Amino acid sequence: MSGTAFPKGFLWGGALAANQSEGGYREDGKGLTTVDMIPHGPHRMPVKLGLEKRYTLRDDEFYPSHQAIDFYHRYKEDIALMAEMGFTVFRTSIAWSRLFPQGDELTPNPQGIAFYRDLFLECRKYGIEPLVTLCHFDVPMHLVTEYGSWRNRKMIDFFARYARSCFEAFNGLVKYWLTFNEINILLHSPFSGAGLVFEEGENPEQVKYQAAHHELVASALVTRIAHEVNPENQVGCMLAGGNFYPRTCKPEDVWTALEKDRENLFFIDVQARGAYPSYSARTFREKGITIVMEEGDAEILKNTVDFVSFSYYSSRCASAEMNENNSSAANVVKSLPNPYIERSEWGWGIDPLGLRITMNMMYDRYQKPLFLVENGLGARDEIDANGEINDDYRISYLKEHIRAMADAIADGIPVIGYTTWGCIDLVAASTGEMSKRYGFVYVDRDDLGKGTLARTRKKSFWWYKKVIASNGADLD
Ligand code: BG6
Repeated sequence: MSGTAFPKGFLWGGALAANQSEGGYREDGKGLTTVDMIPHGPHRMPVKLGLEKRYTLRDDEFYPSHQAIDFYHRYKEDIALMAEMGFTVFRTSIAWSRLFPQGDELTPNPQGIAFYRDLFLECRKYGIEPLVTLCHFDVPMHLVTEYGSWRNRKMIDFFARYARSCFEAFNGLVKYWLTFNEINILLHSPFSGAGLVFEEGENPEQVKYQAAHHELVASALVTRIAHEVNPENQVGCMLAGGNFYPRTCKPEDVWTALEKDRENLFFIDVQARGAYPSYSARTFREKGITIVMEEGDAEILKNTVDFVSFSYYSSRCASAEMNENNSSAANVVKSLPNPYIERSEWGWGIDPLGLRITMNMMYDRYQKPLFLVENGLGARDEIDANGEINDDYRISYLKEHIRAMADAIADGIPVIGYTTWGCIDLVAASTGEMSKRYGFVYVDRDDLGKGTLARTRKKSFWWYKKVIASNGADLD
C-alpha cells in the first residue's frame, strides 16, 4: 500500500436521489412530482424533454419512480450497508413534494419532515455526514400545472419557503447542502430538469433561460437563508460536468468546444462568482432572449456558494460541424464520439484523465473547494452460480477515476469528498432502467418492476470498503 493523496477527513461515500430510490410515491401525504409522470418506454424521452405534455398518469404505462427500490421503507437496512462499507458521507435528496405536496402550501407536511429527520438521524448514528440536494429532478406537479414551473417567478418564493423549512427542521443534522442537482441539465432535459413544457409557437430558449434566471436567484437566496439559519451550513452548486474537447485543433473546433463549455458553465459562473458572465449578453442576443429581471436580483445573486460540486461520468467532444446526426447524448448533453476513449454499453465515454482536466479547469475558474458528488459506471450485472456478482469492470472504472482525483489533489486542488453515483442500484434517470446498474449493492428488481427488492453485496462492495479504510491509498 502506498501513501495517500487524500487529506485527513476527506469524505468518502455514495449518492442516491429521492426520485430514483424512495418509491412510496403517494405515501404519507406526498404529492405527485414531475418524475412520477415520466413513463418507461417510448414516451419517456418526449416527456422528459418537455415535448409531450403528461399531466395525468395512464393505466397502460409503467412508472419506474413509483416504487423505485423502496428506499422509503428500507432506508435503515440500506444505511447499515453503507455504514458497513465505512461511508463518512451519504448524498441523497429531499423530495420537495413530501414536505410540500402541492408546492405552494405555507407550512410543511409533518410526515415528510419526520421521514427525513429519521433518515438523517440514522446516518448520524453511524457517523455518516448527510449531503442533501434540495431539488433533484422532482418539481411538485401542482407547481407545473398551476404555475408553469420555473418559467414563473413565483417559484422563487415557493422554493425559498421549502428550503427554509429544511434548514430549520434539519438544523444541526445536515451541514452540506446542494441547491439544484445538475442545474445545467435544465437546458438539455427541460421537463425532468425544471418542470418545463413548451407551448406551441414559443421560443424554448427564452423559456429555458428565464427559468434558469429564476433558479439562479432562488439558489442564491436560499444560500443566504442557509447561512442565516446556521452559519455552519455549507452550500454548493451542482454541475453536470465534463469538459468538451475540440474534435481537432482547427480553430473553429476549438471555438465550438469553448462555447459548448460556456453553455454548461454559465450556471456555475453565476452561482460561484455572483453575477452573469460577460459572454452571456451576446448569447442572449443571438438566441433572441430577453431575461426579465427584477430590481434586487443582482444583489441576491451576490450570495455565492461555499463550494462547487459536480458530477463526472465522461468528457465530451465538439466540432464546428457538429449536428443532430453526428452527435449523441451521454448524460443528455450532446457530444461527438471520441475515438481515443472507450465507451460503456450505453455509449458513455470512459475517460479518467478527463476528470483531472475538468477539475483543474473548474478550480482555475472558481477557486472554491470542489466536491465530486457523482461518478460511476452504469453496467449490466450478472449473478453467477454461487450467487456472487463479480463487477470487476466497475472496480476498474472507479479505481481509475479515484486515481485521477488523487492527481487533481496533487495538482493543488482542495477537494471535500467523493460520492459515487447510485451506491445501491437504483432507477436510471435517462432510460428508466434498473438494468443500468451503478451500485456496490445489487437490488433484485428488473426494468418492469419485477423482483424481490432483496439487497446483495457485489465484489465492488468489499473493494470500496478497503479504499475507504485506507483513505484512498489501497486501490487494488
Ligand atoms: C446524473 C443525475 O445526470 O446522472 C442522476 O444526476 C443520474 O440522477 C445519473 O441517475 C446517471 O444517469 P443515468 O441515466 O445512467 O441514471
